Amino acid sequence: MSDVLSTIIARRTVYKFQSKAVPKSVLEDAFEAARHAPCHKHTHPWKFYVLGPATRKKLIPAVERLAKLKAGSSTTVSPEVIERARQKMLSPPVMIAVTSKRSADDAFREQEDYAASVCALHNAVLFFWDQGVGCQWSTGGITRDEDLYGALDIVPDSERIIGLLKAGYPESIPSVKKKDVDEIRFYLE
Ligand SMILES: Cc1cc2nc3c(=O)[nH]c(=O)nc-3n(C[C@H](O)[C@H](O)[C@H](O)COP(=O)(O)O)c2cc1C
Repeated sequence: MSDVLSTIIARRTVYKFQSKAVPKSVLEDAFEAARHAPCHKHTHPWKFYVLGPATRKKLIPAVERLAKLKAGSSTTVSPEVIERARQKMLSPPVMIAVTSKRSADDAFREQEDYAASVCALHNAVLFFWDQGVGCQWSTGGITRDEDLYGALDIVPDSERIIGLLKAGYPESIPSVKKKDVDEIRFYLE
């Protein structure tokens, strides 16, 4: 089997990470992989913001607010639920906000740019996996929250946060059932 195919097949979304740091050189090569993604009209609509400890700490009030909102009440939510939400922001060794350029006056361009940004994001994810680093692409409430845009100094009319990429060396690797090729591939005459 080719190296590329075996990397693609073996990759899994990882939810639990070791505390071991990911070297900056691995991050830089992941961004190198990202920038070579296919991109119609060469718009290069993607940006990657690596969230350091101070930025993540700044986001804790928003994370707590969203956890309370999700629980449906600010009075009955347990300290464990709040702490779990805080750790989701603080504990991943790497956290990257990925954005895609917006085009308010051109919905098709914005869609094409989103597709290109997803390719860039996944180039990075596959490279990380090749280096033994797992990722979770997250689109939780915080990714649409104005406090995240504020913390990253992003204007929502110009860039859309398409996800937070959490990354680190896996503590465990889940297994997932995918559709068989026979269910998704059709050769037509
Ligand atoms: C657009 C997109 C958004 C996702 N958002 C989340 C998320 O918010 N939380 C999460 O746990 N996983 C999220 N995932 C990961 C999927 O749940 C995961 O890809 C799926 O369970 C299949 O597992 P696999 O990646 O190991 O093949 C997202 C994946 C994609 C493509």
